[in-house]
Amino acid sequence: MMGELFELELLGGATEQRFRKMRPEVEAMPWGTLDLSNASEEACIAARSVWTGAAYQEHRTALACAMTLRALIEARAPVDLIAVASRFPLDEMVHVELAARMAMEFGGGTEIVHDPKAMVLEPNPHWRPLMQAADCAVRFFCVGEALSIPLLRNTWHIAKHPLPKAVMGPIVKDEAAHGVFGFTFLDWAAERLTESDRGELGQAADLAIRFLYGQWQDVYDNRRKQLHEGDVLGWMKTDDYLARARKAMQSEVISPLEARGIPIAAQLSESPDFATA
Ligand SMILES: [Fe+2]
Ligand SMILES: [Fe+2]
Repeated sequence: MMGELFELELLGGATEQRFRKMRPEVEAMPWGTLDLSNASEEACIAARSVWTGAAYQEHRTALACAMTLRALIEARAPVDLIAVASRFPLDEMVHVELAARMAMEFGGGTEIVHDPKAMVLEPNPHWRPLMQAADCAVRFFCVGEALSIPLLRNTWHIAKHPLPKAVMGPIVKDEAAHGVFGFTFLDWAAERLTESDRGELGQAADLAIRFLYGQWQDVYDNRRKQLHEGDVLGWMKTDDYLARARKAMQSEVISPLEARGIPIAAQLSESPDFATA
């Protein structure tokens, strides 16, 4: 198919007011306080593109959360577990708005063309509901979200300007809850999963992990320095980021999955070794 432009809007009026009431911290952030008078055009374009990319990633994650929610309901997961997960799509839409507004602060979004029907890989349609939910939990939460926690926390840590610091705050807080969720699900599902289920879930995890190894190579090839104090996501394209991402993949993803009997073939030794690259 031809791609569609990734563009967003707010409906406004009473709907926006309800949204604001759900997450009042968004409007309280110090918008409009970035001083770009000394920022080069190159710095602004880099920041616009990295924040637009972040908005798109959060948008994809919102879909992953919604897909997981559906699978949890079909699997009749515990009501409180489903209820906790029902908040995740809202959290992600807040992150979408925060990242999109940061791009606006630097001068506006940049162009992203995407296929809305191919943003996230669906669970195998032939699997029973429990395995579909487990597949979503493993790929989106145990791998994707769990890996992002320490990296986002570090991004929050290096933010000096009050605006990106404020923007990263709720993102870090929400992602901490998301990162734990996948393992909480697996602990509940443990006695319902067979040895062969665990093998299939290991392959699902391998797929998600190898996708990230591929992304790291792209990051390595395009790494750069932070160009402006508001450009905190620029950190995500540095050697330090890659070193931390590798460490977190082992401690937050591979080891906790293996501890739950999910066999992982995509070990760190498969990932690009940046030290000698
Ligand atoms: Fe998010
Ligand atoms: Fe998340």
